[in-house]
Amino acid sequence: MYIENQAVAPAIDLYEEIEALKIERNALILAHYYQDPDIQDIADYLGDSLKLAQIASQTDADVIVLCGVLFMAETAKIINPGLTVLLPDLDAGCSLAEGCPADAFAEHIARYPDHAVVTYINTSAGVKALSDIICTSSNAPRVIASVPPDQPILFAPDKHLGRYLIRQTGRDMLLWEGTCVVHDIFSEQEILRLKAEYPEALVLAHPECQEAILRHADHIGSTTSIIKFATSRNGGQFIVATEEGVVHQMKKMAPDNLYIPAPTDDGCACNQCPYMRKITLEKVYLALRDLQPEITLDEELRLKALRPLERMLALG
Ligand code: 13P
Ligand code: SF4
Repeated sequence: MYIENQAVAPAIDLYEEIEALKIERNALILAHYYQDPDIQDIADYLGDSLKLAQIASQTDADVIVLCGVLFMAETAKIINPGLTVLLPDLDAGCSLAEGCPADAFAEHIARYPDHAVVTYINTSAGVKALSDIICTSSNAPRVIASVPPDQPILFAPDKHLGRYLIRQTGRDMLLWEGTCVVHDIFSEQEILRLKAEYPEALVLAHPECQEAILRHADHIGSTTSIIKFATSRNGGQFIVATEEGVVHQMKKMAPDNLYIPAPTDDGCACNQCPYMRKITLEKVYLALRDLQPEITLDEELRLKALRPLERMLALG
């Protein structure tokens, strides 16, 4: 691919350059399923939040280019501090992490000293450092089951995921009022319209969606779980209520299925995460070339954030 970009020489073949730099740097490219298809295609590993954290804990690479968002890159650095962790655009945040600042969270949990603090991985290192255990969408019920049954739980930051987990686990939890900018705006009316238009279609939803969407879902799960569910059926039709990046893998793995990205309330194509999509091939190339932007963390904070992550990883 030849590009025109002020920061990169115009005649550069980005794919070749990235491959060469990966070898030179002993680097791995990890990508989340919400990345642009061209980024997914160059990744050494693709995964959901849990899988990306597990790979970071096991790799003997020197450098990781995390094609995802800041909390994922921070998680990799917390778990494996010897790694150089690069996030090609430091503005790739997350509305959930940004809606739960560490100082406000510290005040919140101080009011409930007897509660176990279970936080979703979509948080800053500062919030992780205040937590007892971390979960992702693929292991949350198991993580919650690890909290003694008589201990009350405070869950943050996603209120929709929290509500879904209360139903799943039967545990009453105090919820932080956070939402994901992508999953919060799928339209129930549009889902019903699509179900009427495609009566055979199954609805797949991420648990960050509102209750009104989840109630119509035939399968609820993490990105990996949604992809597995859809691609294990041939000739199926699926209404996909999560970031549309997952459809790229679905089409590669089961091209004969029909995948219909769920529309949002205002009819726009807002089912692309504005944070995830900040990562581009050009930025990946520049990150590998310049070894920046690099994630750095205060060591005391890192060690505090490591404990709840290790508890999660120990659960498998
Ligand atoms: P997964 O862990 O299911 O990949 O979710 C990550 C995420 O950011 C969902 O919006
Ligand atoms: Fe955060 Fe939502 Fe983007 Fe996932 S899709 S990174 S939860 S803003």
